[in-house]
Amino acid sequence: MKYLYSALLATVIAGPALADSHSMGDAEAGEKQFGKCKACHMIVDDAGESFQRGGKVGPNLFGIIGQQAGTVEDYRYGDDLVAAGEAGLVWDEANMAEYLVNPTDFLRTTLDDKKARSKMSFRMRKGGEDVAAYLATFSPEAEAEAEADAPMAKDAETEKTE
Ligand code: HEC
Repeated sequence: MKYLYSALLATVIAGPALADSHSMGDAEAGEKQFGKCKACHMIVDDAGESFQRGGKVGPNLFGIIGQQAGTVEDYRYGDDLVAAGEAGLVWDEANMAEYLVNPTDFLRTTLDDKKARSKMSFRMRKGGEDVAAYLATFSPEAEAEAEADAPMAKDAETEKTE
């Protein structure tokens, strides 16, 4: 018991230092996992440089972390994702990891609407935080913000290890 407590304490103290240099996930692992997303998503910057070739079933995910949900230009979203964005949903690594587990459930919880639906039919049980960390590498500003938010990231991490 005492041992457990000090281990926990160590995690809490180490937390901010880790959050500084790291996101919750592993971007390198996420890059590999992105293979699962490519059927429907590409990563292409505004100048047209392509980082991941992919399909057009889903929106281009360049710069998506830090962006309001449902706002990629010229993409036709489902109404519920747009509504969530209008209600204030901005993608960060934590909420995107949650979204990927089950997009429809995520929208139902976010909108508090049992009938909400996602147009994204793909689900990812594990590794969503890695893909989110990978996507964050295309959002330099969001990364800087995440560092400023380090105490919150630390809380999330402590919860997860329970
Ligand atoms: C079978 C096709 C498909 C696959 C595979 C897929 N997605 Fe999607 N994704 C979609 C569609 C369609 C939408 C639009 C959802 C809506 O409008 O409700 C979407 C939306 C999203 C959004 C919200 C974007 C925004 O602009 O708000 C994110 C983030 C996302 N996908 C990430 C991923 C990631 C990461 C993967 C791989 C782990 C992935 N998706 C795999 C089809 C897919």
